[in-house]
Amino acid sequence: MQQQEQTFVMVKPDGVLRGLIGAIVSRFEQKGFKLAAIEILTIDRALAERHYGELRAKPFFGELVAYLTSGPVCAMIWQGLHAVENARALIGKTNPVEAAPGTIRGDFAMDIAGNIVHGSDSAASAEREIGLFFGRTADDHRAGWLAGLDE
Ligand code: TYD
Ligand code: MG
Repeated sequence: MQQQEQTFVMVKPDGVLRGLIGAIVSRFEQKGFKLAAIEILTIDRALAERHYGELRAKPFFGELVAYLTSGPVCAMIWQGLHAVENARALIGKTNPVEAAPGTIRGDFAMDIAGNIVHGSDSAASAEREIGLFFGRTADDHRAGWLAGLDE
């Protein structure tokens, strides 16, 4: 049997607020992925900064962290063959302007600063991100259940 792989996928706050969790989950299921974990949580700044740590020097980093902590996200682990690459293909290019129709970003997003979904870019990133969001210290980084929804 071929090697199963896991990847980390997250519906970002605007995707959650727009009610797109179901549509996104559905696309992963239709493709053939198996859902291994799913959780709605609002993350704190420290976790957002660690998650996007390699982008710390970029001019858009502050905005990115503010975006990611602005409301609940839906964190997921999806499993299957070539899960990392298959997830990236379903999600589409980083900039929705360039993302092909049929991809999640191509169909549901307009702007790079609100591209509604994250997917790990390598097996090593997937392992790191799964650890951050579902590992033993993940509970320390919740800003509060449903925080942001009342705003
Ligand atoms: P990156 O890891 O390069 O893209 P991807 O999400 O496709 O792996 O960047 C992380 C996020 O940072 C990206 O989803 C949206 C945001 N971002 C910007 O806001 N502006 C930019 O110019 C880039 C490259 C990314
Ligand atoms: Mg990335």
